[in-house]
Amino acid sequence: MAGYYSGGDHEKAKAWQEEQHRDGFDIGISFGNIRELTSTKNCVADVQRQLGHLDILVNNAGVTRDAMFHKMRHEDWHDVITANLNSLFHVTSLAINHMIERKYGRIVNISSVNAQKGQLGQTNYSAAKAGMHGFTKALAQEVARHGITVNTVSPGYIATKMVMAVPEKVREAIIANIPVGRLGTTDEVARVVTFLAADTAGYITGSNISVNGGQHMF
Ligand SMILES: NC(=O)c1ccc[n+]([C@@H]2O[C@H](COP(=O)([O-])OP(=O)(O)OC[C@H]3O[C@@H](n4cnc5c(N)ncnc54)[C@H](OP(=O)(O)O)[C@@H]3O)[C@@H](O)[C@H]2O)c1
Repeated sequence: MAGYYSGGDHEKAKAWQEEQHRDGFDIGISFGNIRELTSTKNCVADVQRQLGHLDILVNNAGVTRDAMFHKMRHEDWHDVITANLNSLFHVTSLAINHMIERKYGRIVNISSVNAQKGQLGQTNYSAAKAGMHGFTKALAQEVARHGITVNTVSPGYIATKMVMAVPEKVREAIIANIPVGRLGTTDEVARVVTFLAADTAGYITGSNISVNGGQHMF
């Protein structure tokens, strides 16, 4: 199942679903605005209706509103914290009791290299993504005895809409600082998410896996 928002553009989501179907992937879709608890509730209920149960949750939705801190508007701060961090509470709190009942769950939270290394122009985003690590480690301790794992994946710069929206010159400067010399691919991140979401990953919890081409090593 894939959650979508797209500002309420359902046709865009359906077109994506059809494209996936043509490529051989049968993926259900469900609308929800993870900034809002009520909308998220409807989305999670819809997913449970379509799937029957919810064993794997990937908290992937995220936004950026970059600005140097001295110019950052109140709404840029709050929007990024709401969409990247409060959303984690909204979605996970709706799934966790179901997972506890079933004594099984895999939760993967998508953070960012900029949570750990910081990035100028991204105090809001770095703070929200760093908050995901604390959330992951605390929840991992609470639910381990219920067969639920909670981990974080921290991508570096991946060639998605978010990164391709950055001006080309800035992107080139970013790539110059990545030891492998290129942007990452969505497949490379998905591979790690799939690994953590597997039954066989039950002894990995509270961890973070970096997928950043060596841009930040620690
Ligand atoms: N690209 C990178 O280099 C990079 C690096 C580090 C971390 N990340 C993280 O990886 C994740 C995916 O990023 P991306 O690069 O794929 O970004 P993207 O292309 O901009 O996609 C963002 C995703 O978040 C969803 N979303 C945004 N606001 C939402 C809302 N209010 N309710 C529900 N869904 C919402 C979007 O859904 P719709 O399109 O349907 O609106 C979209 O699927 C994010 O958490 C991002 O912070 C990305």
